[in-house]
Amino acid sequence: MPNCSNMAAISTHRITEDEWDYESNKRIALAAEAAGFDFLFPVSRWRGFGGVTDYLGTSLETMTWASALLAVTSRIRVYSTVHVPAFNPVVVAKMGATLDHISKGRWGINLVSGWSKEEFGMMGLDILPHAERYQRTRAFIEILKGLWTQPPGSFNHESPWYRVTGGYSLPQPVQSPHPPIVNAGNSEDAREVIADHCDWAFMSMAGIEGARAMVVDIKSRAVARGRAVKAACFPFVLWRETRAEAEDEVARIIAHKDEVASGNWLRGLNLESGSFDRFTLDMLTLGAGAYPVIGTAKEVAEQLAEIHAAGLDGVLMVFQAYHRDTLRFAQEVLPLLRAQGIVGNLASHEHPPQPIDTREDSTCP
Ligand SMILES: Cc1cc2nc3c(=O)[nH]c(=O)nc-3n(C[C@H](O)[C@H](O)[C@H](O)COP(=O)(O)O)c2cc1C
Repeated sequence: MPNCSNMAAISTHRITEDEWDYESNKRIALAAEAAGFDFLFPVSRWRGFGGVTDYLGTSLETMTWASALLAVTSRIRVYSTVHVPAFNPVVVAKMGATLDHISKGRWGINLVSGWSKEEFGMMGLDILPHAERYQRTRAFIEILKGLWTQPPGSFNHESPWYRVTGGYSLPQPVQSPHPPIVNAGNSEDAREVIADHCDWAFMSMAGIEGARAMVVDIKSRAVARGRAVKAACFPFVLWRETRAEAEDEVARIIAHKDEVASGNWLRGLNLESGSFDRFTLDMLTLGAGAYPVIGTAKEVAEQLAEIHAAGLDGVLMVFQAYHRDTLRFAQEVLPLLRAQGIVGNLASHEHPPQPIDTREDSTCP
C-alpha cells in the first residue's frame, strides 16, 4: 500500500498523483477489498531518503493507518509494520489487541528490526549489531505472545532489552492464539526468528530459483521445530497491451530515477558494495527492490504463477498506480489466476470488480 510518498519507484516518472494521503489509501483499500484481495500491507518509515523525490519522506504511521482502514473495511486483513527499536512491546501488545477488536480479528503485525541510522539516530537510538537486532526482535515477539496468550498478570520476561513483571494486557486479541505475526527479513538471523516464532516470512527475491531455495529453507527450519510458516515476496507488477509497451514504461521509470534518493537508500542498506551491475541497480529502483513482473496481462499472470509454483503462499504487489492498477488487476489478471486455481479466498461474486476510473489515467503534472 502507498502509505508512504512516491512508493512505487525511486523515480520522478509517475502516471498518477502521489497516493500517500489517507483518502487515497482508503479508496485503494475499498477497491482491494471489493476485488477480493486478502490483505493490505504498509511500509514503516520515519523520514525520507532525500533527492528530488525525498523518497518515502511523507508517510502515514501504520498502527494509526490500520486503525482507520480497519474501521472502513469489513473483510480484508490489514497489517501494521512495527519497528522494534521504536516501540515498547507492552504498548504494541495493547495497540494490537485494540486493532484486533476494532476489526473483529482482521489485524496482523509485521515486525521489522530497523536498519536506517538516519531514522533511529534522529530518535537518539543506536542500530544494534545485526545478530543482536534479531535477538531483540525475538524477545519482542516473545513478549507479544506472552501478553496475548497467557493469563493476565502471569507473564514474566527478562532480557538485555526488556523486563516485564506480572505482564497484564486486557483485552487479549480476538484471533486465537494471536494475530498473524510476520517478519520481513532474509538473513540467517531473520530465518531463525521466523522459524521459531512467526506465521509468515516476507522476503525479497532476486530470481525464481533463489526464492524457491529460500522458501524450502525457511519452511524446513519451521518444520524441524514442529511449526508451519508461510512465505510471501513483493513483486513490482506492471502490465500493458503489449510486452514492448510495458518494457517502455519500465524504461521511463528507470530513466527518471532519483539518483540521490536511490544512492541514499542503497547506502543505508549497505548495498553500495560495487558487486551489483547497472541492470540490478536500475531494477532496484522499482519498488525499492521489488521483483519485476512485467509484460502483458497474460505474461504477468504466468510470472505470478511461477512465483506460486516456487512455493510462495502470497505476494505483496507493488503497483505503479495503486488505485487504477487494483481495479485493472481485478479485471484483467485475477481471472487468469483464478482459472489456474492459484488464488484463494476471493469473494468475486459478492464483490464484483468496479469499473475503472479513467480520470486516474491522466499524466501527472
Ligand atoms: C517485504 C519486506 C518489507 C519490509 N518492510 C520494511 C519496512 O517497512 N521498514 C523497514 O525499516 N524495513 C523493512 N524491511 C526491511 C527488513 O526489515 C530488513 O531490515 C531487511 O530485509 C534486511 O533484512 P536482513 O538483514 O534480515 O536480510 C522490509 C523487508 C521486506 C522483505
